[in-house]
Amino acid sequence: MTQATRHNKEFRIPKRLEGIQQSNIRRIFDSALPGSINFGLGQPDLPTAQCIKDEAIRVINEEPLGYTSHSGLPELREKIITEYPHLDLAASDCIVTVGSNESLFCALMTLCQEGDEVLVPNPAFPAYPAINNLAGAETVLYRLPKEKGFGFDAAEFEKKITDKTRAVIVLSPSNPTGRSLSREDLQSIAKILDGTGIYAVSDEIYRELYFTEERPASISEYYENTLIVGGLSKNMSMTGWRMGWLMGVPEVMKKALVVHGYNTVCTSTITQRAALAYWTEEGKRAEADSREIYKRRRDLLVKLIDEELGLNAVSPEGAFYSMVDVSELGDEMELVNKFLQNRVITVNGSGFGDEAKGFLRISFCASEENIREGVGRMKSALDI
Ligand SMILES: Cc1ncc(COP(=O)(O)O)c(C=O)c1O
Repeated sequence: MTQATRHNKEFRIPKRLEGIQQSNIRRIFDSALPGSINFGLGQPDLPTAQCIKDEAIRVINEEPLGYTSHSGLPELREKIITEYPHLDLAASDCIVTVGSNESLFCALMTLCQEGDEVLVPNPAFPAYPAINNLAGAETVLYRLPKEKGFGFDAAEFEKKITDKTRAVIVLSPSNPTGRSLSREDLQSIAKILDGTGIYAVSDEIYRELYFTEERPASISEYYENTLIVGGLSKNMSMTGWRMGWLMGVPEVMKKALVVHGYNTVCTSTITQRAALAYWTEEGKRAEADSREIYKRRRDLLVKLIDEELGLNAVSPEGAFYSMVDVSELGDEMELVNKFLQNRVITVNGSGFGDEAKGFLRISFCASEENIREGVGRMKSALDI
């Protein structure tokens, strides 16, 4: 090998990785001072339900813990599909994944190739454009206009669809806005997509964390060509367990299984076996209790932001985030840093898309006491 050839073998960033950065949420979190109040990460502070923890300990001691099949334990997939009775899916149309992040990866890697476009809400969870890049697809953003409180706008959505559109990301309830799509919104998405062959990739990881009377509806109720991304990370405080799923269109799922199998083989067998306890009275009760806790926190946070800081916070319908309008207070990043110095972690809205510039995302994965303390610290940082 000549010197020149040797030189050519030096590390070069493959095209699919160009421009992908680690998310700034982590960077902000890592630079926080000890004792900071965390309004930053979307990581539940509540414990995992006792029945799931007990079951994990039992299965470690008593059950076989080799690989499961690539798609996951059949009895677990049988349970997961019961969450969407209207779809009438078979267990073979569902894959248990390493968290919902891996479901997104499987879905987009299976659907997309070079030259395809994927519609992504602006603002939204930053993983979508990154995964699109890895899948070779182009991200096309559709605005959720801030002047509509980050609500859905059918005209903004429709005008971004081209012949190259392969998939659209539907996210409800949303990270970062906490807004849910109404049945009318979903119907209009379905109407726009009808007959196009475009796939809806519906991220429903916050589906069970809702503060409305009814659980938010799913695009899959209105549009057949849907892949559902979900899991137990957020509603069951199981982020570290890595329990997610992907289900939907059978012919797509067959290929998604190949992506998943070569990537991960299967998610942890301990996690899969323990997750079965979610489908028990105790599991569902723990979920309902968390929902109540987050609802109280939401009410408290929105009230304090208004009364103590004089700022306007979007009152979310689900998830555990609120967007606070700080556009009158100057540069968002300066504000994030000012709050960091006062030991409060927040995230700049523009990290989720330029539509959210001038906003901060505040997560309420913090106790009511910490919410009071955190808003108090924000108040003193602002000298009010
Ligand atoms: C909208 C959304 N989708 C997916 C994920 C991934 O969650 P997990 O892989 O832990 O299930 C997150 C995590 O923050 C998220 O906010």
